Amino acid sequence: MPIPVISATGLFTPADSISNTELVDSFNTYVAQHNAEHAAAIAAGEVLALEPSSVEFIEKASGIRARYVLAKAPILDPAVMAPRWDERPNEQISVLAEIGVAAARDALARAGRDAKDVDAVICACSNLQRAYPAIAIEIQDALGIDGFGFDMNVACSSATFGIQTAADFIRAGNAKSVLVVNPEICSGHLNWRDRDSHFIFGDVATAILVEAQDIAPAQHWELLGTKLKTVFSNNIRNNFGFLNRATPETAGARDKLFVQEGRKVFKEVVPMVATMIAEQMERFALAPADIRRLWLHQANAGMNRLIAGRVLGHEATEDESPTVLDTYANTSSAGSIIAFHLNSDDLQHGDTGVICSFGAGYSAGTVFVRKAA
Ligand code: COA
Repeated sequence: MPIPVISATGLFTPADSISNTELVDSFNTYVAQHNAEHAAAIAAGEVLALEPSSVEFIEKASGIRARYVLAKAPILDPAVMAPRWDERPNEQISVLAEIGVAAARDALARAGRDAKDVDAVICACSNLQRAYPAIAIEIQDALGIDGFGFDMNVACSSATFGIQTAADFIRAGNAKSVLVVNPEICSGHLNWRDRDSHFIFGDVATAILVEAQDIAPAQHWELLGTKLKTVFSNNIRNNFGFLNRATPETAGARDKLFVQEGRKVFKEVVPMVATMIAEQMERFALAPADIRRLWLHQANAGMNRLIAGRVLGHEATEDESPTVLDTYANTSSAGSIIAFHLNSDDLQHGDTGVICSFGAGYSAGTVFVRKAA
């Protein structure tokens, strides 16, 4: 049976970033305008006054200091507070495919792989910009890949679910080289007017080239094994869909964008993920000291500190569990892949690490990797 490995990863980072100070200035201008506009109704007790946001709260509650975005000006404009750009004609590549292609090209270049030798593209992400044709097929076309492609969405766990899917294709002999691409335009599903969550997300794209070991470059990552888990929960939802036409500007549309019960998510997901990693360590007969690095989903610094602490048995150092939340914020499925991409070159032959995702669904995935050369 062919053995699947990770040949390389790729990253596309948007040019523009929004600092917490810029974000909070814009949010608080919106709040002041809203409260002034509705002053009489607020005084009469008919409308609730909006509360301002704060940089200190955001950094303490989440560890996020900035986020990259594809459309900075409209997001910061208190009259818009959403990403906006001209709708593209069908002849032009879609925004989601464009950033996916950029990340894919990076992964292909690092692996020294020609796109014509890739068999399949899986676009695995939370925020697909349309129903069909699949974004993956558009990426496949832009790269000149002869094979097949499809989209899949498991929210923040899309990348790890994509890795296992690609690995299974390789084991079954249905493909030898599979690109898993995670373009995430999270700014489009975030309610930038919601004080509880306006700071959480950013935009980015990552790619993972999963290949049969016999064609992979010497500098690859062996896959010890993957594990996927889903447990239904209403605590993170986005009800936007083709059966509704609500926009963020429409009253009552709050649930047509990202909403969560943040505290419940924190409490329920930390033990679920820590247990899952521990069970997989047992499966591979690995002790905490055998884990060189954890590349965790980047949602919240406190969650990651707790998960890493339970897995390793001590407070994790930045070297043991690196964070990219401070500059990238939560980028959904791409988060653990960015952490891996930016913090794996220094690992030595034989070093073992864990890529781990968790998020809406609930969904969680672990990918145990070992550096081959
Ligand atoms: N600025 C200032 N204060 C704020 C604020 C903001 N932007 N947003 C909320 N607050 C206030 C609240 O009003 C509340 O005040 P109170 O105690 O006087 O009522 C207080 O801060 C705590 O609010 P809460 O929403 O309970 O914050 P929290 O400590 O739970 O942190 C999250 C919020 C979202 C960062 C946190 O719950 C979390 O990270 N959860 C993990 C889930 C996650 O990130 N999921 C993403 C998808 S995978």
